[in-house]
Amino acid sequence: MKIGNLVLENPLILAPMAGITQLPFRRLAREAGCALVVTEMVSANGLVHGSKKTTELLISHPNERPLSAQIFGADPEIMKEAALIVQTAGADLLDVNLGCSVRRVIRQGAGAALMREPERLEAVLKGIRSAVSLPLTVKMRTGWEPSGKQAIRAARIAEYCGVDAVAIHPRTAIQGFSGRADWSLIARLKESVSMSVIGNGDIRGPDDVLRMQRETGCDGVMIGRAAIGNPWIFTQALDLMHARPPRWPDRPKRLNTVLRYIDYAVNHFGEGRAVRILRSRLGWFTKGLPHSSCFRASIARLKTTQEMVDAVRTYFESLETADLS
Ligand SMILES: Cc1cc2nc3c(=O)[nH]c(=O)nc-3n(C[C@H](O)[C@H](O)[C@H](O)COP(=O)(O)O)c2cc1C
Repeated sequence: MKIGNLVLENPLILAPMAGITQLPFRRLAREAGCALVVTEMVSANGLVHGSKKTTELLISHPNERPLSAQIFGADPEIMKEAALIVQTAGADLLDVNLGCSVRRVIRQGAGAALMREPERLEAVLKGIRSAVSLPLTVKMRTGWEPSGKQAIRAARIAEYCGVDAVAIHPRTAIQGFSGRADWSLIARLKESVSMSVIGNGDIRGPDDVLRMQRETGCDGVMIGRAAIGNPWIFTQALDLMHARPPRWPDRPKRLNTVLRYIDYAVNHFGEGRAVRILRSRLGWFTKGLPHSSCFRASIARLKTTQEMVDAVRTYFESLETADLS
């Protein structure tokens, strides 16, 4: 798949997820085979006002490239300045959030709120396009009502403004995560614009990737929740796409992945912050496995990452091969 002048090695993309797609997890997803990773959403205001916490969200590692940075905001001038900051920070691609429906974002007219303000949307995207040469994408929802008209209108505006690809999670802003993603809208969007269309929503297993491609004709597939603690979904989807039996992560592979995650977290956040973050993250990788809740409870008490490494080793070594199939 091509996004602007960027050629992706395959059509699989890790969805942006606030608090989850931080650098350590993005590295695992890339290693598992997805072609593109996206930062969590980054406040354009925060970037422009030089907030240290916000600017840190743009820190990248060579092994995760290409990296897309997602910004949210509503003011065309601020968004333009933020886009320049993202470009200077070295991201490979810029994504504009048109889908977030949390109150704090909607209140400032950003995220999904932009989908009901076509003139503002146009001003935001035109401003960004005139300022940066990076490949540019937008990520949207269905809009505020289920017909999909707002999504098609927003995608056409985006294309007219020079956006290179659109990702769509076809649920309304009001729906949140309830109900089902309406994949038929992905197909309609594909027919409505000539830029690349990335389908997103309710990919639960590797076979759903092929089903979404078949049913919608989308160019790319973006995976969010199903990849949390399960980066192997990308490996398995690639296997299916190449008509190979999907590889199942065995015990050494799982253990190794979690140990790398700890290592990447320490490198990125430093020991103290990594310990606090890992307490609630390591359980992702044992979800559904035997005694996972005991493992999670034990991790929550640990004070160093070495203790975490030991606990992870002990846990995985206690598992039988049959537990993992
Ligand atoms: C915890 C969480 C955080 C999210 N944060 C963002 C975000 O920062 N930006 C964004 O565009 N979408 C965000 N999303 C939406 C996802 O990118 C994706 O569109 C949604 O989860 C549907 O895909 P899925 O069914 O594969 O999870 C988030 C979703 C979750 C579950």
